[in-house]
Amino acid sequence: MQTQIWRVDPAAPDREIIKKAAGLIQKGGLVAFPTETVYGLGANGLDPVAVNRIFEAKGRPADNPLILHIANPKDVFYLAGIVPLKAQVLIENFWPGPLTLVFPKGKFIPEEATGGLDTVAIRMPRHNTALALIREAGVPLAGPSANRSGYPSPTEALHVWNDLQGRIEAILDAGPSGLGVESTVLDVAGEVPVILRPGGVTKEELEAAVGAVEIDPGLISANEAPKAPGMKYEHYSPRAEVFLVEGTTEEVLEILQKILSEERAKSRKAGLLLTEDTYQRMPPEAAVWRANLGPRNQPEQIAHNLYRELRNADDAHMDVIYAETLSEAGLGAALMNRLLKSSGYKVISNINN
Ligand code: TXA
Ligand code: MG
Repeated sequence: MQTQIWRVDPAAPDREIIKKAAGLIQKGGLVAFPTETVYGLGANGLDPVAVNRIFEAKGRPADNPLILHIANPKDVFYLAGIVPLKAQVLIENFWPGPLTLVFPKGKFIPEEATGGLDTVAIRMPRHNTALALIREAGVPLAGPSANRSGYPSPTEALHVWNDLQGRIEAILDAGPSGLGVESTVLDVAGEVPVILRPGGVTKEELEAAVGAVEIDPGLISANEAPKAPGMKYEHYSPRAEVFLVEGTTEEVLEILQKILSEERAKSRKAGLLLTEDTYQRMPPEAAVWRANLGPRNQPEQIAHNLYRELRNADDAHMDVIYAETLSEAGLGAALMNRLLKSSGYKVISNINN
């Protein structure tokens, strides 16, 4: 299969291109599309055959359910079995945007899309190209992140191309995605909403809208399975082994100096993902490859850069990557969740401890 790439203006995508892409979706095809978080891999969410092709193209485990993307908030009423009051408040506050809500499943949804669960995840993205595609296709778009399963999510059309060329019909290229980290997945089936995956909408923002919000204990404890099946797999992992380094800027610099000399002695290529301060203060010759993710106190900027730099480190053939840990406040919770998963929870802290 020859994958086509169509470039579009993110704010006002060409009508003819959207029509071609929507036509492919209606025929059961796969089209990667931009969202405000990361690129998604779209298929007709009501067509079991098309949905199965997503799992095949990504190499995704069949029990990992998909998010249905809609362009009109009212569509939750036919896709979800029940829409609780708190969910309606959340929809009013955060849609369109990076919040996925998990509802009891409605009867029109094929079980292939929900990994056999009796719930369904739904979100309305805030990206004109995504919305135009969903409207034109006239169906909810099942859309996981458009990466090979296990690899970091794509924030540019080129990342999708590298992972999925020859496996999908087309890619809509609208330039880099804005946020760079996925949506928050929130279970709204119970009395108190539960965060199943931290993401673009923060716990603090959710609580300001609907009061108390819990975090799935499976995200924190190793003894409990996460409720979002996707959170149990190895994920966000480049080919290089990833370690996290924790501490103040001084401590991180000290730890890295020691580690880098050990890595050099082993002839291993070590790449660094650093926050701005650490990046500036480290002598350029200290590491063969390093990336500046942005200032520690600006998680939005770090989110925008993180997945791209994980992929860049692989493209630069690093054997191992050392990444700084971040504050877990606000958007930092989502970033630390991804960093911990990509490192398999391997954290190095002060050598003196
Ligand atoms: O920002 C995003 O959410 C992106 C863009 C493309 O919209 N999509 C995305 O999809 O990240 P995906 O498939 O890569 O991640 C969806 C996560 C997985 O961890 C999955 O297990 C969880 O949501 N999920 C989906 N349906 C669920 C359900 N019914 N119950 C619990 N978790 C669910
Ligand atoms: Mg994903």
